[in-house]
Amino acid sequence: MEKNLFGTLTPISEAADCCGDSCCGDDASTEITHEQLDSVTAVVQHQYAALATNAAERAADSSRVKATDKFYTQAQRDVLPDEAAGASAGCGNPVGIADARPGETVLDLGSGGGIDCFLAAREVGDGGYVIGIDMTPKMLELAQQNAASLGTENVVFKLGHIESIPQPDDTVDLVISNCVIALSEQKDRVYSEIFRILKSGGRFVISDMVTEVPLPADVQASPTEWVACVGGAAVMSEYLELIESTGFTDIEVLKEARTNPDAAYWKSSLIDITIRAYKPAG
Ligand SMILES: C[S@@+](CC[C@H](N)C(=O)[O-])C[C@H]1O[C@@H](n2cnc3c(N)ncnc32)[C@H](O)[C@@H]1O
Repeated sequence: MEKNLFGTLTPISEAADCCGDSCCGDDASTEITHEQLDSVTAVVQHQYAALATNAAERAADSSRVKATDKFYTQAQRDVLPDEAAGASAGCGNPVGIADARPGETVLDLGSGGGIDCFLAAREVGDGGYVIGIDMTPKMLELAQQNAASLGTENVVFKLGHIESIPQPDDTVDLVISNCVIALSEQKDRVYSEIFRILKSGGRFVISDMVTEVPLPADVQASPTEWVACVGGAAVMSEYLELIESTGFTDIEVLKEARTNPDAAYWKSSLIDITIRAYKPAG
């Protein structure tokens, strides 16, 4: 059997569970081609396009655990379209603790169905502005439909990669992200890009998946685990070092919880974190 970069051709639909339905979505399509397995980007796009397509159905099915069920308040859920909740695949609630202020410009990396953008938009108000970036065209379409159904006017969604953010230097007050950077093979580039686009004194509040110890090689090489935000999860100490070496200051872990505390073997090493850090002023 021909090998690809993951060293396996196991279809992602044969995936074992991972961090839970809410994080990776539970709507992997049944087929994945050799071509799609050729890059992390293609596999991730394949998975999240399937999730976007099934968002309404997932929202209506109470047996499927969504990120909104685990991490969001009832008041937040009440103001979201069902399709935004149905596509939610985060591992935290960054807007819930980011303290976005009226008039601020907020940028969400890997905005998915738009859930955190819509919540941030309410906080920054008419004088503020929210930009969602996602590389999966179907997710972008869903987010735009959700914005139209909400009548939100201060949110824009852009197709783009978080490793090369389509946003000018020094223009953003607050960067948020929810369970996306674990999907990137170039976390150093992502954090350099965050630093570049933040205004002096600006901050990020990011929820992500990390691990206490390095994951087994076969987990890191599994497309299934990558799309679940697990295979690419960094060791927490190295992740925090990367943030510091990028130039951020006042780094604080605002929330930290084991994803699967009772699981056996490497799964118990997974941690949902929410981190805040600042670009130095001046
Ligand atoms: C786990 S989902 C999280 C979506 C959203 N943040 C939420 O909380 O529901 C990951 C999202 O990030 C997008 N994504 C993954 N890697 C990306 C990259 N390198 N650049 C841009 N978007 C990416 C995917 O298309 C998907 O919509």
